[in-house]
Amino acid sequence: MRQEEKRNRVEEAIRSFYEEKTVAPHLVDSVLYSIQAGGKRLRPLLLLELLEAFGQDLTDAHFQVAGALEMVHTGSLIHDDLPAMDDDDYRRGQLTNHKKFGEDLAILAGDALFLDPFGMIATSQLPDTVKVALILELSDASGSRGMVAGQVLDMEGEHKQLTLEELQTIHANKTGRLLAYPFIAAGSILELEADIRQLLKQLGQKLGLAFQVRDDILDLVADFEALGKTPQKDLVAEKSTYPALLGLEASKALLERELDACGDLLDQLVAICAFHPQAIKKLIEGLRIHG
Ligand code: IPE
Ligand code: IPE
Ligand code: MG
Ligand code: MG
Ligand code: MG
Repeated sequence: MRQEEKRNRVEEAIRSFYEEKTVAPHLVDSVLYSIQAGGKRLRPLLLLELLEAFGQDLTDAHFQVAGALEMVHTGSLIHDDLPAMDDDDYRRGQLTNHKKFGEDLAILAGDALFLDPFGMIATSQLPDTVKVALILELSDASGSRGMVAGQVLDMEGEHKQLTLEELQTIHANKTGRLLAYPFIAAGSILELEADIRQLLKQLGQKLGLAFQVRDDILDLVADFEALGKTPQKDLVAEKSTYPALLGLEASKALLERELDACGDLLDQLVAICAFHPQAIKKLIEGLRIHG
């Protein structure tokens, strides 16, 4: 299936969840404003491409799981942009949720996007044991053991010189865990063997960390047009980032090395099971920063 169709079906899964039963229409407007603003949809695409790479035909349930992940991610962006957090005015090329709808509704839209995904997975047409595993893993990756914890450490790390290890812990949690979720979820959905799951997990963790290093680099070198968000915000907030700690060139070199290592892990996967890596390889290669 083409990527464009995958994106459309993920968006459709999210939209139908909110249109099926609407209690507070203004809340749904606020939620869909941020969802429909676009974004790269990297996390859902990784999950769907992984499933296809293992030879799985995609069903509505897979788009619901992919959509659930995109919902948590979008909720994390709405909250990340709030004045009490990174205080950003633009996201995905348009005004941030709180600029458009007010802080109160933006907080609640984030709340909805954190809680609704679990119901969406629970009602999908997958075996109960698979659904429980998917819900557990998403909760673990998102909450106080994952993304939310990383966001707290990120806030506490402002105006400080951290060690590389401390910075890695922040990045691995605030961004790495949700980025790694597709790799964990594919293992659960396909009920894969433990050794394959272990490789997938390693790959997800590596890619997750690399993705935040990339985001830190882009904050410095890219413009509003490319980012859809205000550039150089990390400098202003004195955030702990890879470029701040290692310098720009060393960060770029590290990103390249980590993406190379992801390629090696994909090759290892091909060697031990029936796996067609082309589409995933393309997604990962697309994360390189040229120049
Ligand atoms: C931005 O994520 C926030 C981070 C976790 C680095 P993305 O770069 O995936 O944002 P969208 O979804 O494309 O807007
Ligand atoms: C965001 O990291 C991580 C989460 C939203 C969980 P950043 O604060 O660096 O993301 P951007 O740069 O605002 O997209
Ligand atoms: Mg942030
Ligand atoms: Mg931010
Ligand atoms: Mg950033």
